[in-house]
Amino acid sequence: MMLSLLLTIPTLFLAPAALLLTSLPQSIAVTCPTLSDLEHDLGSTLSKGSSISASASDAPRWSLYGAPKPAFIVNVSAESDVVSTVRYCNKKNIIFLAQSQGNGWADTFRLGNCGLIINMAGLNKVAFNKYRTIASIGGGAQVKDMVLAAYNNGTRFSNPTCTCLGFLGAVLGGGISRSQGLYGQGVDQVLSLNVVTASGDSLRVNRRSHRDLWYAMRGAAPNFGIVTSAHVKAYPVPKDQNIAWEGAITFADDKLEPLIKAIRDLDLRPEMEIDFLFATSGPPLNTPAITAIPFFLDNASAARVAFASIFALGPLSDETKEVPYDHWGDFANSFCQKGMRKPAYGASLARQGLDPATWRAVYEEFKTFVARYPEAAGSSILAEYYPVQKAVAIGDTTSSYPFRDVPIHVVTIPVYQNSSFDVTANAWGARVRSLLRSTDGLDMNSTYINFAHGDEPLNEIYGKDLPELQKLKKRYDPQKKFNQWFPLA
Ligand SMILES: Cc1cc2nc3c(=O)[nH]c(=O)nc-3n(C[C@H](O)[C@H](O)[C@H](O)COP(=O)(O)OP(=O)(O)OC[C@H]3O[C@@H](n4cnc5c(N)ncnc54)[C@H](O)[C@@H]3O)c2cc1C
Ligand SMILES: *[C@@H]1O[C@H](CO)[C@@H](O)[C@H](O)[C@H]1NC(C)=O
Ligand SMILES: *[C@@H]1O[C@H](CO)[C@@H](O)[C@H](O)[C@H]1NC(C)=O
Ligand SMILES: *[C@@H]1O[C@H](CO)[C@@H](O)[C@H](O)[C@H]1NC(C)=O
Ligand SMILES: *[C@@H]1O[C@H](CO)[C@@H](O)[C@H](O)[C@H]1NC(C)=O
Ligand SMILES: *[C@@H]1O[C@H](CO)[C@@H](O)[C@H](O)[C@H]1NC(C)=O
Repeated sequence: MMLSLLLTIPTLFLAPAALLLTSLPQSIAVTCPTLSDLEHDLGSTLSKGSSISASASDAPRWSLYGAPKPAFIVNVSAESDVVSTVRYCNKKNIIFLAQSQGNGWADTFRLGNCGLIINMAGLNKVAFNKYRTIASIGGGAQVKDMVLAAYNNGTRFSNPTCTCLGFLGAVLGGGISRSQGLYGQGVDQVLSLNVVTASGDSLRVNRRSHRDLWYAMRGAAPNFGIVTSAHVKAYPVPKDQNIAWEGAITFADDKLEPLIKAIRDLDLRPEMEIDFLFATSGPPLNTPAITAIPFFLDNASAARVAFASIFALGPLSDETKEVPYDHWGDFANSFCQKGMRKPAYGASLARQGLDPATWRAVYEEFKTFVARYPEAAGSSILAEYYPVQKAVAIGDTTSSYPFRDVPIHVVTIPVYQNSSFDVTANAWGARVRSLLRSTDGLDMNSTYINFAHGDEPLNEIYGKDLPELQKLKKRYDPQKKFNQWFPLA
């Protein structure tokens, strides 16, 4: 089956076969097994409730652009299934990738011809200790299920906003959360991790055992292992007090500069967070709109005082209200819609990155793009501004997330159907990112890994932790089994 071997190798590597086999960055399967091979050899070792298929619809993706194209999907239903699958793939030289909720949009997936997705979504356990201060969660737990269980048990997590996300997918890359001002970032929520390594071994990783992995996994997990379950922090709050104040406020075009300035000048206390968004009204008019979405972990009267400078600008509309914890993510549900092509581009900013002139230029880029390309009218530019006091106080050295002191993360999201538009969309995303970086106020270009595109130099994503992470990568994954997500090697 030389044919399948050749097809998976970039022409760069076309060299004598013997050399190839030792120099390839990933182990390449020479022959793909058939589905029935898999069912026979792997299926017999999996637990009840798991399944194997060849249908990509068993592991749907948020973005079809750059999406991994698996030959096989294994729905696991027990932690031991992950071990069995990794060992099987290693034995057969099959490239594999763990998928939780499939929201990752990286342009770095390279599954080859026989690639296999380990669909973790079935590992969705959520259980609390009796004080509701610690939750035991499955490796594929979805934010939605965790929030609902927490709310109904009188507690809460420091979780990402959109409830369609895999909790660990977001958290292990740093994890930004609207309550992080009180509780810290995602990586600070983790108490222990059960990890399946590149060799298919199971390790318990925490501050006392495997300390180097404890550091590496909290910031760069997808390069080091698959987390099959974890213990994470929860924060008891009586159900009737488990509320925040949030909602959309829209502004006329000519309020953009004062809005950016007012956001920049906010005293962003730990209870506060604010997003702002450029999006259109949708078809047929596709009118561009400027929307701010403030968040406050307290009641409405306290919130309106904290955000008084924003209201003073005279918004066109105001939908802010007190919202119970189990509905905090509702406003963003439309963002969660799976499908379409979304080659998103991230850039992180210091507070000074809220430069009115730059943001005017960014808004003009947005308006021009959606006016010229109605097929991409669902595109948007989203900025999220977080209080970082708590994350900075917790400190930098215990995890490998490099940007604790960086408060603003922006993502430019072209959204469209037809791959013939990829070139135009990518050029736009990269152009907006450059504009934002021109006044980012940082010492170096930086991008939150979970908002990154895939074309960045690695130090923009891993920051000062890059050398240490690359050293650990050599030790823990010398054969580069975990090389699908902004690969370190
Ligand atoms: C609509 C939307 C809203 C978002 N909002 C936020 C937000 O509020 N805060 C925030 O921090 N980020 C946010 N993000 C970014 C988000 O963190 C990333 O998209 C993240 O990759 C999603 O994880 P997932 O499990 O859903 O996706 P997946 O694509 O399944 O996973 C992403 C990566 O993590 C790896 N991975 C997943 N689970 C595990 C595991 N158990 N062990 C090891 N590796 C694992 C996968 O292999 C993959 O490389 C948002 C993204 C979207 C699309
Ligand atoms: C695999 O899991 C997904 C959820 O992630 C589900 O939609 C799909 O039906 C499952 N496939 C099979 C064959 O059980
Ligand atoms: C409380 O959490 C437990 C898990 O610890 C869960 O099984 C239960 O459904 C939750 N209670 C409610 C009312 O949701
Ligand atoms: C709202 O919160 C403020 C500050 O926490 C508090 O002083 C006030 O009593 C609260 N008001 C209501 C109506 O609960
Ligand atoms: C995609 O765009 C190309 C070029 O504009 C066009 O020829 C093709 O018909 C489009 N495909 C679909 C499915 O719309
Ligand atoms: C940072 O980004 C800008 C804009 O994309 C680019 O021009 C510049 O070269 C980058 N700087 C570095 C050090 O890579």
